[in-house]
Amino acid sequence: MEQPRRMVVGWCLFAVLGAALCRSEDGLSSFEDLDQREGALSFLESHAVSPAAPKPLMVGLTLIQGAAAKGAVCLDGTLPGYHLHRGQGSGANNWLIHLEGGGWCNTIRNCVYRKTTRRGSSKFMEKQLPFTGILSEKPEENPDFFNWNRVKLRYCDGASFFGDGQNEASQLYFRGQKIWLAAMEELISLGMKNADQALLSGCSAGGLASILHCDEFRYLFPRSTKVKCLSDAGMFIDAVDISEGHSLRDIYAGVVSLQNVQVNLPSSCSSHLDPTSCFFPQNLVANIKTPLFLLNAAYDAWQLQSSLAPGSADPHGTWTNCKLNHERCNSSQIEFLQDFRKQMLDAVKDFASSSKNGLFINSCFAHCQSERQDTWFAEDSPLIADKGIAESVGDWYFDRVTVKAIDCAYPCDKTCHNLVFK
Ligand SMILES: *[C@@H]1O[C@H](CO)[C@@H](O)[C@H](O)[C@H]1NC(C)=O
Repeated sequence: MEQPRRMVVGWCLFAVLGAALCRSEDGLSSFEDLDQREGALSFLESHAVSPAAPKPLMVGLTLIQGAAAKGAVCLDGTLPGYHLHRGQGSGANNWLIHLEGGGWCNTIRNCVYRKTTRRGSSKFMEKQLPFTGILSEKPEENPDFFNWNRVKLRYCDGASFFGDGQNEASQLYFRGQKIWLAAMEELISLGMKNADQALLSGCSAGGLASILHCDEFRYLFPRSTKVKCLSDAGMFIDAVDISEGHSLRDIYAGVVSLQNVQVNLPSSCSSHLDPTSCFFPQNLVANIKTPLFLLNAAYDAWQLQSSLAPGSADPHGTWTNCKLNHERCNSSQIEFLQDFRKQMLDAVKDFASSSKNGLFINSCFAHCQSERQDTWFAEDSPLIADKGIAESVGDWYFDRVTVKAIDCAYPCDKTCHNLVFK
Protein backbone atom coordinates (compact mmCIF):
# COMPACT_ATOMS: atom_id res chain seq x y z
CA MET A 1 0.00 0.00 0.00
CA GLU A 2 1.25 3.44 -0.89
CA GLN A 3 2.28 5.51 2.12
CA PRO A 4 0.35 8.71 2.72
CA ARG A 5 2.33 11.72 1.57
CA ARG A 6 3.74 13.55 4.50
CA MET A 7 5.14 16.90 5.30
CA VAL A 8 8.32 16.97 7.28
CA VAL A 9 8.54 20.43 8.74
CA GLY A 10 11.74 22.43 8.60
CA TRP A 11 14.55 22.27 11.06
CA CYS A 12 13.81 25.74 12.35
CA LEU A 13 10.71 24.34 13.99
CA PHE A 14 12.75 21.63 15.59
CA ALA A 15 15.18 24.28 16.69
CA VAL A 16 12.30 26.13 18.28
CA LEU A 17 11.00 23.01 19.95
CA GLY A 18 14.53 22.02 20.90
CA ALA A 19 15.09 25.41 22.47
CA ALA A 20 11.86 25.00 24.35
CA LEU A 21 12.74 21.52 25.49
CA CYS A 22 16.10 22.80 26.71
CA ARG A 23 14.38 25.46 28.74
CA SER A 24 12.93 22.92 31.14
CA GLU A 25 14.48 24.70 34.11
CA ASP A 26 11.92 27.45 33.64
CA GLY A 27 9.10 24.98 33.90
CA LEU A 28 8.72 23.86 30.32
CA SER A 29 8.83 20.13 29.95
CA SER A 30 7.04 19.46 26.70
CA PHE A 31 6.04 21.36 23.64
CA GLU A 32 2.36 21.55 24.43
CA ASP A 33 3.38 23.76 27.31
CA LEU A 34 5.32 25.83 24.86
CA ASP A 35 2.34 25.87 22.54
CA GLN A 36 0.21 27.03 25.41
CA ARG A 37 2.66 29.83 26.05
CA GLU A 38 4.05 30.75 22.68
CA GLY A 39 2.02 29.00 20.02
CA ALA A 40 4.64 26.67 18.61
CA LEU A 41 2.22 25.20 16.15
CA SER A 42 1.17 28.59 14.94
CA PHE A 43 4.84 29.38 14.46
CA LEU A 44 4.92 26.35 12.24
CA GLU A 45 1.79 27.39 10.37
CA SER A 46 3.00 30.79 9.40
CA HIS A 47 6.62 29.96 8.77
CA ALA A 48 6.49 26.59 7.07
CA VAL A 49 7.00 28.09 3.62
CA SER A 50 8.80 25.59 1.45
CA PRO A 51 12.24 26.79 0.38
CA ALA A 52 11.35 26.24 -3.29
CA ALA A 53 8.32 28.52 -3.09
CA PRO A 54 8.58 31.95 -4.72
CA LYS A 55 9.13 34.82 -2.31
CA PRO A 56 5.75 35.62 -0.80
CA LEU A 57 4.25 39.07 -0.65
CA MET A 58 5.28 40.76 2.62
CA VAL A 59 2.71 43.10 4.17
CA GLY A 60 3.48 45.68 6.82
CA LEU A 61 1.97 45.98 10.30
CA THR A 62 -0.34 48.91 11.06
CA LEU A 63 -1.07 49.76 14.68
CA ILE A 64 -4.60 50.97 15.42
CA GLN A 65 -3.86 54.46 16.70
CA GLY A 66 -7.30 55.20 18.09
CA ALA A 67 -7.54 51.91 19.93
CA ALA A 68 -6.12 52.88 23.34
CA ALA A 69 -8.80 55.56 23.82
CA LYS A 70 -11.38 52.81 23.36
CA GLY A 71 -9.66 50.51 25.85
CA ALA A 72 -8.72 48.18 22.99
CA VAL A 73 -5.21 47.10 23.92
CA CYS A 74 -3.04 43.98 23.94
CA LEU A 75 -2.40 42.08 27.19
CA ASP A 76 0.44 44.49 28.07
CA GLY A 77 -1.45 47.67 27.17
CA THR A 78 0.19 48.23 23.77
CA LEU A 79 -1.80 49.00 20.62
CA PRO A 80 -3.29 46.13 18.59
CA GLY A 81 -2.50 45.88 14.88
CA TYR A 82 -3.27 44.41 11.50
CA HIS A 83 -1.73 43.85 8.07
CA LEU A 84 -3.77 45.10 5.09
CA HIS A 85 -3.14 44.53 1.41
CA ARG A 86 -5.54 46.48 -0.76
CA GLY A 87 -7.77 44.81 -3.31
CA GLN A 88 -8.04 45.86 -6.89
CA GLY A 89 -10.07 45.44 -10.08
CA SER A 90 -13.13 43.23 -9.53
CA GLY A 91 -12.01 42.65 -5.93
CA ALA A 92 -11.72 46.31 -4.92
CA ASN A 93 -14.96 46.23 -2.91
CA ASN A 94 -14.51 42.78 -1.41
CA TRP A 95 -12.96 42.20 2.02
CA LEU A 96 -11.36 39.15 3.59
CA ILE A 97 -10.62 39.48 7.30
CA HIS A 98 -8.38 36.74 8.67
CA LEU A 99 -7.99 36.42 12.44
CA GLU A 100 -4.59 35.24 13.62
CA GLY A 101 -4.40 32.29 16.04
CA GLY A 102 -1.93 31.16 18.68
CA GLY A 103 -3.47 29.32 21.64
CA TRP A 104 -4.87 31.04 24.72
CA CYS A 105 -3.70 32.18 28.12
CA ASN A 106 -5.69 30.79 30.99
CA THR A 107 -3.74 31.77 34.12
CA ILE A 108 -2.24 34.99 35.44
CA ARG A 109 1.14 33.35 35.10
CA ASN A 110 0.93 32.40 31.44
CA CYS A 111 -0.84 35.66 30.53
CA VAL A 112 1.99 37.59 32.20
CA TYR A 113 4.47 35.50 30.24
CA ARG A 114 2.52 36.19 27.04
CA LYS A 115 3.08 39.93 27.50
CA THR A 116 6.72 39.27 26.59
CA THR A 117 5.76 37.70 23.23
CA ARG A 118 4.12 38.78 19.97
CA ARG A 119 0.94 37.06 21.21
CA GLY A 120 0.52 39.56 24.00
CA SER A 121 2.27 42.74 22.91
CA SER A 122 2.66 44.62 19.65
CA LYS A 123 6.19 45.50 20.79
CA PHE A 124 7.18 41.97 19.78
CA MET A 125 5.09 41.55 16.63
CA GLU A 126 6.80 41.03 13.27
CA LYS A 127 6.73 44.31 11.35
CA GLN A 128 5.87 42.41 8.17
CA LEU A 129 4.16 39.08 7.53
CA PRO A 130 4.06 36.87 4.43
CA PHE A 131 0.65 36.70 2.73
CA THR A 132 0.25 33.14 1.41
CA GLY A 133 -2.61 30.74 0.73
CA ILE A 134 -5.95 32.47 1.20
CA LEU A 135 -4.03 35.74 1.73
CA SER A 136 -1.95 35.45 -1.48
CA GLU A 137 -2.23 38.18 -4.12
CA LYS A 138 -1.60 35.74 -6.99
CA PRO A 139 -4.50 34.15 -8.89
CA GLU A 140 -2.42 31.00 -9.42
CA GLU A 141 -2.10 30.64 -5.62
CA ASN A 142 -5.48 31.93 -4.54
CA PRO A 143 -8.00 31.76 -7.40
CA ASP A 144 -11.05 33.35 -5.75
CA PHE A 145 -9.76 35.91 -3.23
CA PHE A 146 -6.43 37.10 -4.68
CA ASN A 147 -7.65 40.58 -5.65
CA TRP A 148 -9.79 41.25 -2.57
CA ASN A 149 -8.79 43.58 0.22
CA ARG A 150 -7.08 41.12 2.55
CA VAL A 151 -6.47 41.74 6.23
CA LYS A 152 -4.68 39.74 8.87
CA LEU A 153 -5.71 40.93 12.31
CA ARG A 154 -3.04 40.21 14.93
CA TYR A 155 -3.94 38.21 18.03
CA CYS A 156 -2.67 39.72 21.28
CA ASP A 157 -5.42 39.20 23.86
CA GLY A 158 -5.15 35.45 24.57
CA ALA A 159 -8.91 34.75 24.52
CA SER A 160 -9.82 34.45 20.82
CA PHE A 161 -10.71 38.19 20.62
CA PHE A 162 -13.47 37.53 23.13
CA GLY A 163 -12.37 38.63 26.61
CA ASP A 164 -13.42 41.77 28.46
CA GLY A 165 -11.72 42.77 31.67
CA GLN A 166 -8.38 43.40 33.33
CA ASN A 167 -6.22 42.39 36.27
CA GLU A 168 -4.67 45.42 37.90
CA ALA A 169 -2.30 43.64 40.25
CA SER A 170 -0.62 41.93 37.28
CA GLN A 171 -1.15 44.81 34.85
CA LEU A 172 -2.99 42.57 32.42
CA TYR A 173 -5.57 43.87 29.95
CA PHE A 174 -8.13 41.36 28.72
CA ARG A 175 -9.59 43.35 25.86
CA GLY A 176 -10.18 40.89 23.04
CA GLN A 177 -13.73 42.04 22.34
CA LYS A 178 -12.67 45.70 22.31
CA ILE A 179 -9.76 44.90 19.97
CA TRP A 180 -12.19 43.20 17.63
CA LEU A 181 -14.51 46.23 17.67
CA ALA A 182 -11.73 48.79 17.25
CA ALA A 183 -10.30 46.84 14.31
CA MET A 184 -13.69 46.54 12.63
CA GLU A 185 -14.32 50.29 13.10
CA GLU A 186 -10.95 51.09 11.55
CA LEU A 187 -11.54 48.79 8.57
CA ILE A 188 -15.07 50.14 8.06
CA SER A 189 -13.55 53.63 7.89
CA LEU A 190 -10.95 52.40 5.38
CA GLY A 191 -13.70 51.37 2.96
CA MET A 192 -15.05 48.10 4.29
CA LYS A 193 -18.39 49.85 4.81
CA ASN A 194 -18.84 49.73 1.02
CA ALA A 195 -18.10 46.02 0.73
CA ASP A 196 -20.08 44.04 -1.82
CA GLN A 197 -18.75 40.78 -0.43
CA ALA A 198 -17.00 39.94 2.84
CA LEU A 199 -15.52 36.85 4.41
CA LEU A 200 -14.38 36.51 8.04
CA SER A 201 -11.80 33.76 8.41
CA GLY A 202 -9.24 32.67 10.96
CA CYS A 203 -7.09 29.77 11.99
CA SER A 204 -6.84 27.87 15.28
CA ALA A 205 -7.67 30.25 18.15
CA GLY A 206 -8.51 32.64 15.29
CA GLY A 207 -10.73 29.95 13.75
CA LEU A 208 -12.62 29.80 17.02
CA ALA A 209 -12.79 33.61 16.97
CA SER A 210 -14.29 33.60 13.47
CA ILE A 211 -17.09 31.38 14.83
CA LEU A 212 -17.57 33.50 17.95
CA HIS A 213 -17.72 36.75 15.95
CA CYS A 214 -19.46 35.50 12.82
CA ASP A 215 -22.94 36.94 13.35
CA GLU A 216 -21.51 40.17 14.80
CA PHE A 217 -19.43 40.52 11.63
CA ARG A 218 -22.55 40.05 9.53
CA TYR A 219 -24.33 42.91 11.31
CA LEU A 220 -21.56 45.35 10.40
CA PHE A 221 -22.93 45.32 6.86
CA PRO A 222 -26.23 46.07 5.16
CA ARG A 223 -28.35 43.14 4.00
CA SER A 224 -27.21 43.66 0.43
CA THR A 225 -23.62 42.68 1.29
CA LYS A 226 -22.78 39.01 0.87
CA VAL A 227 -21.22 37.97 4.20
CA LYS A 228 -19.92 34.55 5.21
CA CYS A 229 -17.42 33.09 7.70
CA LEU A 230 -14.71 30.44 7.47
CA SER A 231 -13.24 28.66 10.46
CA ASP A 232 -9.96 26.85 9.81
CA ALA A 233 -8.88 24.43 12.55
CA GLY A 234 -11.27 26.14 14.94
CA MET A 235 -13.40 23.08 15.70
CA PHE A 236 -12.01 22.43 19.19
CA ILE A 237 -13.85 19.48 20.68
CA ASP A 238 -14.79 19.10 24.34
CA ALA A 239 -13.14 15.69 24.43
CA VAL A 240 -12.07 13.26 27.13
CA ASP A 241 -8.28 12.94 27.05
CA ILE A 242 -6.16 9.78 27.21
CA SER A 243 -6.24 9.70 31.02
CA GLU A 244 -9.96 10.39 31.20
CA GLY A 245 -9.50 14.01 32.12
CA HIS A 246 -10.77 17.06 30.26
CA SER A 247 -7.54 18.90 29.44
CA LEU A 248 -8.96 21.39 26.98
CA ARG A 249 -12.07 22.05 29.06
CA ASP A 250 -9.77 22.84 31.99
CA ILE A 251 -7.86 25.33 29.84
CA TYR A 252 -11.06 26.90 28.53
CA ALA A 253 -12.52 27.18 32.04
CA GLY A 254 -9.46 29.23 32.96
CA VAL A 255 -9.66 31.45 29.87
CA VAL A 256 -13.37 32.04 30.36
CA SER A 257 -13.19 33.00 34.03
CA LEU A 258 -9.88 34.92 33.93
CA GLN A 259 -10.81 36.92 30.85
CA ASN A 260 -14.51 37.39 31.67
CA VAL A 261 -15.63 35.76 28.44
CA GLN A 262 -19.16 35.00 29.63
CA VAL A 263 -20.38 38.57 29.05
CA ASN A 264 -19.90 38.15 25.30
CA LEU A 265 -21.36 34.66 24.82
CA PRO A 266 -24.55 34.33 22.78
CA SER A 267 -27.65 33.84 24.93
CA SER A 268 -28.77 31.04 22.59
CA CYS A 269 -26.04 29.01 24.31
CA SER A 270 -25.53 30.65 27.72
CA SER A 271 -29.25 30.42 28.53
CA HIS A 272 -28.95 26.64 28.82
CA LEU A 273 -25.23 25.79 29.15
CA ASP A 274 -22.39 26.93 31.40
CA PRO A 275 -19.99 29.57 30.00
CA THR A 276 -17.11 27.12 29.48
CA SER A 277 -19.31 24.85 27.34
CA CYS A 278 -20.34 27.90 25.30
CA PHE A 279 -16.70 28.56 24.39
CA PHE A 280 -16.72 25.20 22.57
CA PRO A 281 -17.88 25.60 18.97
CA GLN A 282 -19.84 22.34 19.05
CA ASN A 283 -22.38 24.21 21.20
CA LEU A 284 -22.47 27.25 18.91
CA VAL A 285 -22.17 26.34 15.25
CA ALA A 286 -25.70 25.05 14.69
CA ASN A 287 -27.14 28.37 15.92
CA ILE A 288 -25.05 30.74 13.85
CA LYS A 289 -27.29 32.57 11.38
CA THR A 290 -24.57 33.62 8.94
CA PRO A 291 -23.32 31.00 6.45
CA LEU A 292 -20.25 29.31 7.91
CA PHE A 293 -17.66 26.92 6.49
CA LEU A 294 -15.78 24.53 8.78
CA LEU A 295 -12.38 23.45 7.49
CA ASN A 296 -10.71 21.02 9.89
CA ALA A 297 -8.51 17.97 9.99
CA ALA A 298 -10.35 15.10 11.66
CA TYR A 299 -7.13 14.25 13.53
CA ASP A 300 -6.26 17.88 14.27
CA ALA A 301 -2.56 17.90 15.16
CA TRP A 302 -2.91 20.59 17.83
CA GLN A 303 -5.81 18.83 19.53
CA LEU A 304 -3.93 15.54 19.52
CA GLN A 305 -0.93 17.19 21.18
CA SER A 306 -2.59 19.62 23.56
CA SER A 307 -6.11 18.36 24.23
CA LEU A 308 -6.08 14.56 23.84
CA ALA A 309 -2.55 13.64 24.92
CA PRO A 310 -0.86 16.62 26.56
CA GLY A 311 2.12 15.87 28.77
CA SER A 312 -0.01 16.40 31.87
CA ALA A 313 -2.28 13.51 30.77
CA ASP A 314 0.64 11.33 29.70
CA PRO A 315 3.22 11.41 32.52
CA HIS A 316 5.12 8.39 31.16
CA GLY A 317 5.24 9.69 27.60
CA THR A 318 3.56 6.64 26.10
CA TRP A 319 1.97 8.86 23.45
CA THR A 320 5.07 10.89 22.61
CA ASN A 321 5.99 8.99 19.45
CA CYS A 322 2.40 8.92 18.21
CA LYS A 323 2.03 12.67 18.81
CA LEU A 324 5.14 13.42 16.78
CA ASN A 325 4.37 11.09 13.89
CA HIS A 326 1.04 9.40 13.22
CA GLU A 327 2.87 6.47 11.63
CA ARG A 328 4.19 5.60 15.07
CA CYS A 329 0.77 5.29 16.71
CA ASN A 330 -0.12 1.71 17.65
CA SER A 331 -3.49 0.15 16.98
CA SER A 332 -5.10 1.17 20.27
CA GLN A 333 -3.92 4.75 19.82
CA ILE A 334 -5.39 4.83 16.31
CA GLU A 335 -8.61 3.46 17.74
CA PHE A 336 -8.68 6.35 20.23
CA LEU A 337 -8.13 8.80 17.37
CA GLN A 338 -10.88 7.20 15.30
CA ASP A 339 -13.21 7.80 18.21
CA PHE A 340 -12.10 11.43 18.29
CA ARG A 341 -12.94 11.73 14.59
CA LYS A 342 -16.41 10.36 15.36
CA GLN A 343 -16.86 13.03 18.04
CA MET A 344 -15.81 15.68 15.54
CA LEU A 345 -18.30 14.41 12.95
CA ASP A 346 -21.06 14.21 15.59
CA ALA A 347 -20.30 17.79 16.61
CA VAL A 348 -20.93 19.08 13.07
CA LYS A 349 -23.96 16.95 12.23
CA ASP A 350 -26.73 19.51 12.87
CA PHE A 351 -24.55 22.26 11.46
CA ALA A 352 -24.03 20.27 8.27
CA SER A 353 -27.75 19.77 7.72
CA SER A 354 -28.23 23.47 6.94
CA SER A 355 -27.90 24.25 3.24
CA LYS A 356 -26.14 27.59 3.87
CA ASN A 357 -23.17 25.93 5.58
CA GLY A 358 -20.16 24.17 4.11
CA LEU A 359 -17.54 21.80 5.40
CA PHE A 360 -14.28 20.09 4.53
CA ILE A 361 -13.19 17.62 7.20
CA ASN A 362 -10.22 15.71 5.87
CA SER A 363 -8.71 12.68 7.58
CA CYS A 364 -5.28 14.21 8.03
CA PHE A 365 -2.88 15.03 10.87
CA ALA A 366 -2.83 18.74 10.15
CA HIS A 367 -3.67 22.06 11.77
CA CYS A 368 -4.50 25.18 9.75
CA GLN A 369 -4.75 24.49 6.04
CA SER A 370 -5.98 27.79 4.56
CA GLU A 371 -2.98 30.05 5.03
CA ARG A 372 -0.32 27.62 3.90
CA GLN A 373 0.18 27.57 0.18
CA ASP A 374 0.90 23.83 0.02
CA THR A 375 -2.42 22.89 1.59
CA TRP A 376 -4.60 25.72 0.25
CA PHE A 377 -3.84 25.56 -3.45
CA ALA A 378 -0.88 23.79 -5.01
CA GLU A 379 -0.32 20.92 -7.38
CA ASP A 380 -0.43 18.24 -4.67
CA SER A 381 -2.76 19.88 -2.15
CA PRO A 382 -5.10 17.72 -0.04
CA LEU A 383 -8.27 16.60 -1.78
CA ILE A 384 -11.59 15.08 -0.86
CA ALA A 385 -13.28 13.42 -3.84
CA ASP A 386 -10.78 15.12 -6.16
CA LYS A 387 -11.52 18.64 -4.95
CA GLY A 388 -9.05 20.77 -3.01
CA ILE A 389 -9.55 23.25 -0.20
CA ALA A 390 -9.39 26.54 -2.15
CA GLU A 391 -11.87 25.30 -4.71
CA SER A 392 -14.18 23.93 -2.01
CA VAL A 393 -14.22 27.20 -0.06
CA GLY A 394 -14.69 29.18 -3.30
CA ASP A 395 -17.52 26.94 -4.51
CA TRP A 396 -19.32 27.39 -1.20
CA TYR A 397 -18.66 31.14 -0.87
CA PHE A 398 -19.86 31.96 -4.39
CA ASP A 399 -22.74 29.44 -4.27
CA ARG A 400 -21.34 27.55 -7.25
CA VAL A 401 -22.14 24.15 -5.70
CA THR A 402 -22.87 22.78 -2.24
CA VAL A 403 -19.76 21.60 -0.37
CA LYS A 404 -20.22 19.01 2.38
CA ALA A 405 -16.95 17.12 2.14
CA ILE A 406 -16.24 14.51 4.82
CA ASP A 407 -13.31 12.22 4.23
CA CYS A 408 -13.23 8.46 4.80
CA ALA A 409 -11.35 7.45 7.97
CA TYR A 410 -7.53 7.19 8.24
CA PRO A 411 -5.54 5.89 6.45
CA CYS A 412 -7.64 6.14 3.29
CA ASP A 413 -6.56 9.64 2.23
CA LYS A 414 -3.27 9.68 0.31
CA THR A 415 -3.36 13.43 -0.38
CA CYS A 416 -2.79 14.63 3.22
CA HIS A 417 0.05 16.95 4.13
CA ASN A 418 0.50 15.43 7.56
CA LEU A 419 2.55 17.29 10.11
CA VAL A 420 5.47 15.18 11.30
CA PHE A 421 7.71 16.43 14.11
CA LYS A 422 11.15 15.05 14.76
C1 LIG B 1 -0.24 0.98 22.51
O1 LIG B 1 0.56 1.82 23.33
C2 LIG B 1 0.00 2.09 24.61
C3 LIG B 1 0.91 3.11 25.28
O2 LIG B 1 2.24 2.69 25.30
C4 LIG B 1 -0.14 0.82 25.39
O3 LIG B 1 -0.72 1.07 26.66
C5 LIG B 1 -1.02 -0.14 24.63
O4 LIG B 1 -1.11 -1.38 25.27
C6 LIG B 1 -0.47 -0.34 23.20
N1 LIG B 1 -1.44 -1.13 22.45
C7 LIG B 1 -1.07 -2.11 21.62
C8 LIG B 1 -2.18 -2.81 20.92
O5 LIG B 1 0.10 -2.43 21.45
